[in-house]
Amino acid sequence: MNILVVGGGAREHAICDAVYLSKNIELFSVMSNLNPGIGKLSKDFFQEKETNIEKIVNYARLKNIDIVLIGPEAPLEVGIVNELNKAGIESCSPTKEAARIETDKEWMRNLLKKYNIPGQLKCETFTNIEKARKFIDSLNGEIALKPIGLTGGKGVRVSGDHFKTINDALKYVKEVIDNKIGGEAKILIEEKAVGEEFTLQAFSDGNTILPLPAVQDHKRLLPEDKGPNTGGMGSYSCENGLLPFLSKSDYEEGAVILQKIIESLKKEGCKYIGPIYGQFMLTIDGPKIIEINARFGDPEAMNVLPLLESDFVDICKAMIDGNLNTIKLKLKKKSTVCKYVVPEGYGVKSMVGKKIYIDEESIKSTGSMLFYASVNKDDALVKTTSSRSLAVVGISDTLNNAENICEEALQYIKGDHIFIRHDIGKSNLIEKRIKHMIELRGM
Ligand code: AMP
Ligand code: GLY
Repeated sequence: MNILVVGGGAREHAICDAVYLSKNIELFSVMSNLNPGIGKLSKDFFQEKETNIEKIVNYARLKNIDIVLIGPEAPLEVGIVNELNKAGIESCSPTKEAARIETDKEWMRNLLKKYNIPGQLKCETFTNIEKARKFIDSLNGEIALKPIGLTGGKGVRVSGDHFKTINDALKYVKEVIDNKIGGEAKILIEEKAVGEEFTLQAFSDGNTILPLPAVQDHKRLLPEDKGPNTGGMGSYSCENGLLPFLSKSDYEEGAVILQKIIESLKKEGCKYIGPIYGQFMLTIDGPKIIEINARFGDPEAMNVLPLLESDFVDICKAMIDGNLNTIKLKLKKKSTVCKYVVPEGYGVKSMVGKKIYIDEESIKSTGSMLFYASVNKDDALVKTTSSRSLAVVGISDTLNNAENICEEALQYIKGDHIFIRHDIGKSNLIEKRIKHMIELRGM
């Protein structure tokens, strides 16, 4: 069976790794930047922009691809799956219509309202600044401001974190509306949810979901959750599938929400096939929906895919065939800690073209996994681009050991201009998260 993976980041490297472990497959890939890890695993690769659908469909035809897996959201938004379907090629990712759950935040919030899905936040969209002001006042300025469409994870502003006063909030409201940030002269204003964030990813065949272990991502650039939001600096998961602050019932509430979303998408006539991603805030009133993504998370894919004991391609086939209920999902009961290596200045102004020395064999000897992201390779030399460079994932029986192993492996990555958030997965930060939830519950 020929499998094509679209995307060239560390998430896609993890997807390719999982595909590669499956039986009787040949792996092909499309990526805009040559990912050395994906390149090594692929029988053939096509270096092309991931949104250039026509060329990708032609490549898939030429290589007799049976199933296509799409990593990032941008090709989903422009309908890559619809075009592959027209060409008679199956995809284990959602159509453009189903992917609106991620690509159109207003549509997503309306769907939640229409089907009375639990975990909602008060929210409204505005094209008029005066009306926005009244809504912001009614929420005492405790809000999140969001452009409607995709902004690469960098368009959201939250009170307290990114702005202090209602006037500052209104400045951003005006900026989004005037400049059509996110594609429309409109803004989504949500009530601010207070608590601890967690990610719940699941496989979906359009009828049922198979949820995966919960993960906590770290969006902020700097230790102690300081600095600007990034695409994600690292993440961890625990051997029991929960998180130190997340109970089984919280996890199950999240899974019920994802299941109800899948059912509502089916009722809307856009059956959702592929991995689905729920970003939740665990509040004192239970999990609240922050965003839903139409794909695996990056970095969160790297926490869950290495744990699969079931054959990944079998799961993909079951998602496409609508018989996910026949799969008995087997996962290693291990903790994972993922830390990204990024260029110095990432999130502000990355130092591009700087050398990174990677001792792959020694990294492997620690039991960690290495996933390449956005780098350039001249001969044997790996160099930074403006995006995240690579990720290391430590896997072990406990969170503490997984973190130690990850750090051990990071010793084998050297460069004068790289940056890592070393606090991810360390007990100090974990304790802080637990304490935060205890304090909120005691208030
Ligand atoms: P998003 O791009 O929607 O994931 O938002 C980026 C980050 O902003 C999230 O990971 C949260 O930390 C924060 N955020 C988004 N929406 C809210 C909200 N309604 N309340 C509190 N924080 C939020
Ligand atoms: N980790 C955030 C995302 O994948 O959107």
